[in-house]
Amino acid sequence: MTDYLKCEQIPYSALAAEYGTPLYVYSQQEITAALNQYQQAFASLQPLICYAVKANSNLSILRHFARLGCGFDIVSGGELQRVIMAGGDTGKTIFSGVGKSSAEIEFALNNNIRCFNVESLPELERINTIADRLGKIAPISLRINPDVNAHTHPYISTGLKANKFGIAYHDVIKAYQLAATLPHLKITGIDCHIGSQLTDLSPLIEALERMLLLVDKLAEHNIELEHIDLGGGVGIVYQNENVPDLAAYATAVARLLSKRNLQLMLEPGRSLIGNAGGLLTTVEYIKQGEEKNFVIVDAAMNDLMRPSLYQAYHGILNVSSTTANEFVADVVGPICETGDFLAKDRTIAATAGDLLLIQNAGAYAFSMASNYNTRCRAAEVLVNGTEHHLIRQRENLPELLANEQNCLKAI
Ligand SMILES: Cc1ncc(COP(=O)(O)O)c(C=O)c1O
Repeated sequence: MTDYLKCEQIPYSALAAEYGTPLYVYSQQEITAALNQYQQAFASLQPLICYAVKANSNLSILRHFARLGCGFDIVSGGELQRVIMAGGDTGKTIFSGVGKSSAEIEFALNNNIRCFNVESLPELERINTIADRLGKIAPISLRINPDVNAHTHPYISTGLKANKFGIAYHDVIKAYQLAATLPHLKITGIDCHIGSQLTDLSPLIEALERMLLLVDKLAEHNIELEHIDLGGGVGIVYQNENVPDLAAYATAVARLLSKRNLQLMLEPGRSLIGNAGGLLTTVEYIKQGEEKNFVIVDAAMNDLMRPSLYQAYHGILNVSSTTANEFVADVVGPICETGDFLAKDRTIAATAGDLLLIQNAGAYAFSMASNYNTRCRAAEVLVNGTEHHLIRQRENLPELLANEQNCLKAI
């Protein structure tokens, strides 16, 4: 049996037979290997690697990252709860995001997180007020908007003036000066995140250079920083992208940070888990339309939004021993939307009952899944060598409907 029919040592067909489809399958060894690449490339800088929970927030995945020594980058109180439940270290957890609620800030302060990545002046004031009430000092870093074009899909580009993220470059010094007057804040760092699925190193380096100009200006105002956080990681290969070389990235960062006493932090998500996961799905029907062929599968846009949302490409492999001939088709799900597609105009050999693997679905796949069309979210499995573990049970309809059923009596 060729290797592409297996995840590590386990045939995909065996996983589908045991757990059903749609099914997310993750390789633990590939996750570890992806983290090792960062650790080795950046070894001389001893960075704190804070896995971006939003990429894939399954508790068992978080536990695996925690055991490997990672910190976490969270964007909600819910994600903090996950980190705590998974046994992650809140002292290595940083809290990003433009809209932190009072309750989330209080929760994070009570759990002594490493740092708040603050995105606006009102957020600074809010954190200060809550820290005052709790008798705490809140460690903060300001997320700056470096106004750098990350050359990625507009929906995942975050470092431009027009984006909602970060503090405008020209307002940064004033924002730090305000922070310095707030008695329940401790300024510890500076950060930025210019976007996701970055296929070019130069915007990352440009953003770092622009941040270092600010670090120097802040020092002139007697504001000394302890850490610098470069945000998310590099892009991954979905099709034929040229992705940045981590060693080259690390070398450039090391050169710029040499002779500076700044702890480096990184918040990679996609590049730690994206290529380590796939979505298994069964072909329900082959349909010949008037203009197009359709391979209708049991996974849909609610399981994998990326093609509909970003026109993203995912490779698809037939992992059954199919006898079908190749043809060109759209691979679509059962959802009642024309936008429900997993691939367009794809050359594929498939017949009803075949098992397909949608590749590179470890990141921003399950974590973006929904119950649209009252579809239960799929199960997740983690494979390690010859072992496999269910890490999320498939949802069922009674669970899905319970919150509404409880309220039905009131009508
Ligand atoms: C603040 C922040 N940090 C880190 C990440 C992770 O980025 P990536 O998955 O590209 O590594 C994101 C995702 O967009 C983010 O918004």
